This record gives sequence, structure tokens and C-alpha cells, in this order.
Amino acid sequence: MNFEFTEEQIMIQQAARDYAQRELIKDVIERDEKAIFPTHHVKALAELGFLGMLVDVEYDGGGMDTVSYVLAMEEISKIDSSLGVIMSVNNSLVCYGLEEYGTEEQKQKYLKPLARGDKIGAFLLSEPEAGSDATKQHTIAEDKGDYYLVNGTKNWITNGNSAGTYLVIAQTHPEKKHHGINALIVDRNSEGITVGPHEKKMGMRSSDTHSVMFTDVKVPKENRIGEDGFGFKFAMKTLDGGRIGIASQALGIASGAFERALQYSKERKAFGTELFNHQSVAFKLSDMAVKIENARNLCIKAAWLKDQGKPYGVASAMAKQYAADIAMEVTTEAVQIHGGYGYVAEYHVERLMREAKLTQIYEGTSEIQKVVISRSLLR
Ligand code: CAA
Repeated sequence: MNFEFTEEQIMIQQAARDYAQRELIKDVIERDEKAIFPTHHVKALAELGFLGMLVDVEYDGGGMDTVSYVLAMEEISKIDSSLGVIMSVNNSLVCYGLEEYGTEEQKQKYLKPLARGDKIGAFLLSEPEAGSDATKQHTIAEDKGDYYLVNGTKNWITNGNSAGTYLVIAQTHPEKKHHGINALIVDRNSEGITVGPHEKKMGMRSSDTHSVMFTDVKVPKENRIGEDGFGFKFAMKTLDGGRIGIASQALGIASGAFERALQYSKERKAFGTELFNHQSVAFKLSDMAVKIENARNLCIKAAWLKDQGKPYGVASAMAKQYAADIAMEVTTEAVQIHGGYGYVAEYHVERLMREAKLTQIYEGTSEIQKVVISRSLLR
């Protein structure tokens, strides 16, 4: 078994690290405070090829592997996980869904601009009454012959306002329950779409999260992904990969907080010596390091399985659940090690702690990952 990364994977990791440590760090606190969408950073990520990393070069993507994606996501999220989630949704929900299940025409028209980063995408699954219980779709895509008429409301949509392309999950045949759901590609500028106000979030405040309302929106039939009724399976399969992205984001948040706490413990003195020389602090850092190492191994394993074409749904649920939960623990300890300084913005760890919380909630809560994992134990 080889635990070494390839030269190309290390180069990608380094490029992400350089950009994050050199550029993202400059305005991350201000963007968080003022909830400013990171437009110029999104453009820079597109230039680095990070918005369509996993997409084949034939469709203007980077043609990189999922292990590289984990490494890049970790480095970006160490500094700015708002940008991390923008990158993750575009790569592993929207681009992946289109590349894997879209028609050639859909790929030419919609995937290519998303893979280049000319546009970004959003994944519209959640609703006011369909969060964890994703089968209960109330948004209706009525079959009108050569088009669908879409009505309903989607909630908590990452990139909700900034996206140019939406992947919308909606119910067409309610009597068939989840077998009647479809996935549709919808142009953000379609008539009848209203985007709600920017949600005032606890963390990841510079990614734009909105509700999106559909009133008699006409979507051409050729914009349906897969067969009639494939929408729920499409969403589940796509989320399997999405969870690798969010797991890597959580890993980045944890390792970003850990690096800051370690550095602080070597500089700050209390009771006549550096904090690190107090066993209570050194043991905390030791526990944090073990958790991060475990989370990274789970992320890489899930990514490797995906790259090998092997089943990865359970591995990605394990990575997501564990990385999100330890991100919460590690960031909380990082704040504790910093004492009073940990509670103020300048030291970054309070922001990382707020950000960690969201990784336990979106793309399936930690409890939902346990549903996926525990069901697999019975099979
Ligand atoms: N791959 C393929 N098919 C799958 C699947 C998978 N991973 N998981 C389930 N399915 C299929 C099942 O085989 C079943 O098919 P049949 O009926 O044909 O046999 C069907 O889907 C229904 O499956 P379940 O009976 O397991 O469904 P369930 O209602 O019990 O719940 C769940 C499954 C795992 C809890 C699911 O509802 C779920 O993942 N919920 C969480 C939703 C979620 O993650 N939302 C995130 C929103 S997106 C987001 O957050 C993006 C962002 O902005 C950051």
C-alpha cells in the first residue's frame, strides 16, 4: 500500500496552499464580517483550474483526480471555507452531476462554462420541509409535453444568487413518491425565478446562501437529467461525491485551527514557560493531531475509492461525519488554547469554530451520515 502522493498531487496541493496563504488570508476577516461574496477569489480559482478540477479536459475541466481535489479543498478551507464550499458545490455536485449523467448536448452547453469557471452552479435539493428527509419534495415540475412547469421554493441554497446554472430537484409524479422526482438544469435568468435575501449565517458568511422561488418557470424537456424519475437517485449519487468535498472542507477547518493553536502554544508564555510545555496544552494538541490524521485518511480513502471506480458512498459518509465532528472538537480546543485571544476575530480560530458547525449540518447532518453508515452494516 502506497501512502505517498504523486508529484502532480503535491503540485496541486502547493498551488492551493500558496494561493490561500498569500491571497485569501488578506481579506478573509473583512469578508466574513461584512458577508462579502469573494468574486475576485472565485475568478482566481477558475484561473487555477480549481472550479472544474475533476472534469475531463475534453469538457474544459482540469482532468485532476479526487485525491488532488481533497488536498486542494483542505488548503483553501484552512484559510477560507466560504470559498471552499463554493468550490465544492461547483465541482462535486454540479459539474460531477452533469458530467456523469448529462447528455452530450447538456455537457457542451452547461458543463463547459461551469468547468472553466465562467459560471458557477448551485444544487437545489433542500426545501422548507425537505432537509434531511430529501424524498419529500414539494417543488413541482409539471410535465407539459415539451417542457416542465416548475413551481415551489428551495431553501439554504449555496451560490443561490451568484450561480448562473441551477440543478433543480423537483417532483413530477407525486403518486410515485421518490421514483417520480426529476433533476432539471435551469438557467438562473429564467422568467419566474425570484431569489430571496442573503441568509445571515453564523459562519461561512461570505458564501451566498439564499432561498429560491419558482413561479411558473418553463424548463425545456431536454434539460432533464437522465430518464423520467431519475432525480432522487441522481441527487443521492451526486451527494455521495459531494460529501468528500465537505469532508475535506471540514478537514481544512480543523487543520487550519490546529496549525494556529500549535503556533500560538510555542509563542505564548504562561507561568514562566511556553504554553506547549504545559502538559494540559501539549496533550490537547496531541489529541487534535490524531483526529486530523484520521480525518485526512478517511477523506483520502473515499477519494481514492472514487478514483479507482469502486463504491465510495459509505466511505464518503464516514469521512464527512468524522471530519465534521472532529472539526467542531478541534476548533473548540483551538479557541480554548488561545484563551481570550481565541474569542476575537484577529486570531481566526473563532471564525473557524463557527464554520466547523455548518459542516455538521449541510450535505446531510452527522446523524444522516450515521443513517447511511448503519444501513450499510446490515447489508
Ligand atoms: N446512491 C444511489 N441510490 C441511493 C442512494 C445512493 N447513495 N441512497 C439512497 N438511494 C436510493 C435507494 O436505493 C432507494 O431506491 P429504491 O426505492 O429504488 O430502492 C431510494 O434512493 C430511497 O432510499 P432510502 O429508502 O434509503 O431513502 P430515505 O428516505 O430513507 O433516506 C437519506 C435516504 C440517506 C436519509 C437521504 O434522504 C439523504 O441523504 N438525506 C440528506 C439530504 C442531504 O444530504 N441534503 C443536502 C442538501 S445539498 C447541500 O447541502 C449542498 C450545499 O449547499 C452545501
